[in-house]
Amino acid sequence: MARRGIRRYCLNDSEFDEVCTMHCVFAFLVICDQNNLRPAYHRFHSIHTNKRGTAVNIEPPPLHTMLPLPLCIGTLFFAYRLFHGYVKGYRPLLDPHSLPGNAIPANWWHMGFMWPWIQRKHAHFNHTYDLTTIIPILAGNSMYIAASVGMARQIWGNEGKTHLVKPSDFTTEAVWGSSIALANGEDWKRHRRVVAPAISSNMLSRVVDESALVYQKMCKDLTPNGVVTDLHSLLLRFTLVMICRCGFGMSVDWKPSTANDEVAIFDRALSIASTTLIHRLIFPNWVWRLPVQRLREIDESWTTVLTLIASLAAGRQVQYSTLKELGDSEITDLFTKLVSSTEEASRYTLTPAEVTGDMMSLLFAGNETTSSVLMSTLVFLGLHPDQQQTAYEEILREVPSREEITLRNVSGLKYLLACMHEAHRLVPATINLPRDVPEDIVLRTMLPTEQDIIIRKGSRVMIDIMAVCHNPHDFPAPESFNPARWLSPDLKEDVIMFGAGPRSCVGRRFAQTEAVTFLAHFLRDWQVETVLHAGETQQTALDRILSGASMFGTAFGVGEVPVKITKRD
Ligand code: HEM
Repeated sequence: MARRGIRRYCLNDSEFDEVCTMHCVFAFLVICDQNNLRPAYHRFHSIHTNKRGTAVNIEPPPLHTMLPLPLCIGTLFFAYRLFHGYVKGYRPLLDPHSLPGNAIPANWWHMGFMWPWIQRKHAHFNHTYDLTTIIPILAGNSMYIAASVGMARQIWGNEGKTHLVKPSDFTTEAVWGSSIALANGEDWKRHRRVVAPAISSNMLSRVVDESALVYQKMCKDLTPNGVVTDLHSLLLRFTLVMICRCGFGMSVDWKPSTANDEVAIFDRALSIASTTLIHRLIFPNWVWRLPVQRLREIDESWTTVLTLIASLAAGRQVQYSTLKELGDSEITDLFTKLVSSTEEASRYTLTPAEVTGDMMSLLFAGNETTSSVLMSTLVFLGLHPDQQQTAYEEILREVPSREEITLRNVSGLKYLLACMHEAHRLVPATINLPRDVPEDIVLRTMLPTEQDIIIRKGSRVMIDIMAVCHNPHDFPAPESFNPARWLSPDLKEDVIMFGAGPRSCVGRRFAQTEAVTFLAHFLRDWQVETVLHAGETQQTALDRILSGASMFGTAFGVGEVPVKITKRD
């Protein structure tokens, strides 16, 4: 029977938890191993009590003289947990999200950055808890971990009221300053009020048209009736060209040009910058001055991109004055829309530096994530021919001829979109999303018991997207590829992979329109088959592919997986 009550627990007090845990472990070891550890423990105890450093007899003392200290600590520990409250969780040595925690791969003693993915099927005590804690014993931040759709919704849904803050140690502020993805409070609202309406229907129609054009160019690099081994790279190029065209309004071509005009220089610099954000975030400034060719190249690319965006913004401002005479509907790229908000007469104004920050955020939030989801979708459809056939038939039904692919009939491709959501659920593009709590909030857990937990001001909460997306209470049979679950009339959950609430993905419609249009063209032309190794079944091939899933730049995904494509009649 579910029990409901109020629990108070504050991770600021976690030091107490850690110290007690260490003492209890030590005391337990001493009691178990009297001959070897008792003298060591006695010496440890004496050093801490005999401040004058008097010589200490290291003969093992009788056991009964040693028990009081561990017993006292143990009693204190359990009394603390009983009266103060306690949220079950993990006690790793290092914070898996810290720099050393990231660098050490996940193993039996270390959770590691990839822990949420590796443990996705059994995390949070076999999904029996929807809120747990991570309290590192040696170093790092303690945090609450939300592991169910309901818990994630409570955190995201109330962000407007609870004023949760995106932690600065997880953001790119040092690289390109303030932007929609990093700002908090009133500043964030101002950014959002400019960026959200910029992704208008006019803009999405442009996304549909440009997708068709870029896809046609990409086809020239595909080997008909052969195995494509670089599909992920091609998809990355596709999404980058799309952001350049629809985001920046620059007619970047499919093949990177060697010319010296502004567009080609921007394209080349952006291609390097778009894959090196992690380097830019991790390395200190002096690293970029080292005489290493590749480091210089990365540094120059970043400088070029940031200066070019600033100078392009000035040019667009002039262009905008002309466009205004023609009407707002003439502006179909994000950049010009954002530049127009630097006008003093605009309702919500951005500074030119903020426009640069927002454009960089849109680029990084939307490029690798979308290509990663496209790749997973094609791999899953390549392993599930029946679902691929259903999607193909829907494409033929909704879009009888290629020329008729418009924003309106792309939104009719419901099953295709469901396939994308399902592949995205199984391999989410983001691993976890953190927030800091500036004032006390209450979260209601449902598992293992219904309970209100007060999260104290100063705590950190992290949404474990991998656990949420693989939670069997939210997604029955979570490991199976079942696109139909997204079409069920009983479906209560919206697509959680794009976040939820006021800070959910502002580019979701952009990403969905771009990806579904691409898939409609691709699946219309090609039958996709994920290549199996000799002797593999679909399930073993899938296990192999998923075990190779990792971070590729800023997005999580399956990476390069060979697929066979056969031209349809
Ligand atoms: C499949 C592709 C995408 C995925 C999986 C994705 C996922 C997400 C998620 C989970 C968030 C919420 C982050 C948080 O709560 O901390 C987010 C926010 C955001 N996304 Fe996306 N995104 C995608 C595509 C895009 C695209 C194409 C754009 C731009 C055109 C974009 C721009 C943004 C921005 C600017 C934010 C920050 C919004 C805010 O803080 O108000 N995303 N995205």
